[in-house]
Amino acid sequence: MMGATQHIAARVARLEAAGDGILRLVLVPAGGECFPAWEPGAHVDLILPGTGRDGEPLIRQYSLCGDPADLTEYRFGILREPDGRGGSAWIHDRLQVGDEIAVSAPRNHFPFTPGEKTLFIAGGIGITPVLPMAHRAQAEGRDWQLIVAARNRGRLPFLAELAALPQDRIRCHCDDEAGMLDLPKLLSFLGAQTTVYSCGPGPLLDALQKLNEGAPWQLRIERFSAAPQAPASANRPFDVICRASGKRLHVPADMSLLQVLRQAGIKVESSCRDGVCGTCETRVLAGTPDHRDSVLSAEEREEGDYMMVCVSRACGDVLELDI
Ligand code: FES
Repeated sequence: MMGATQHIAARVARLEAAGDGILRLVLVPAGGECFPAWEPGAHVDLILPGTGRDGEPLIRQYSLCGDPADLTEYRFGILREPDGRGGSAWIHDRLQVGDEIAVSAPRNHFPFTPGEKTLFIAGGIGITPVLPMAHRAQAEGRDWQLIVAARNRGRLPFLAELAALPQDRIRCHCDDEAGMLDLPKLLSFLGAQTTVYSCGPGPLLDALQKLNEGAPWQLRIERFSAAPQAPASANRPFDVICRASGKRLHVPADMSLLQVLRQAGIKVESSCRDGVCGTCETRVLAGTPDHRDSVLSAEEREEGDYMMVCVSRACGDVLELDI
């Protein structure tokens, strides 16, 4: 079985406009084989040549938005992010059809479990993980609705892909025409049988999480950027025991666990270093993690079996990791 850290050579088959500042990127396996299987909600790392503005390798996470049954290609939506770390700009400005890059095997921290009723809410490019979910819901004859919100019509992404879905289940909302989406009103009608799946900008997801407090409906979200975290002054030192490496290390308040592990020569895969991508997920053998990531669900946090070592710390004095 292919591990999540193995890389696969891929060739750019198509690169075309899919909305204002949005590219549709289609990769095919460079060796002519099929890509690894994936499920709606999954993402992969794109490993791009060179380094970003921060001097770090250009490894970026993008949701798979094509058809999980077609493993001859991986399809993505790439929004140019002027204030980003340089990955999307590199793809927009330098990547060309025929180029080869590498991709990781798929990971899924936003799995879709169809329930009685599903409301998808996609903010802009947040449509990418939601598209395969909507197709899955339709194929299984589920009761679903999709709201796609964007600043204006030009920013509504993947209109061609949306056109392939039943239009009576889709509502496109443009802020410049209809004002901001009235989430309290929209969600006030939902009951316990509905699960809301949402991906989009932080303020949209923050608002949904707030409205979900005490509400009967369920909420599943995926973030592009980190959720608000405890201030750095809340950090406290702790020790980490690395069982596989046979080391005990001290993590001072002003360093992350990932920094300490790297300094000690312990290899941990990482990418965003912001608690968003899930690349640095590490198994916890003992101790209670102080979870500060935006990846794990409330249930996964409660179980305490895994943690993101780039941002999360320890509740007590010692953590033991399977590393
Ligand atoms: S490196 Fe992305 S979650 Fe830790």
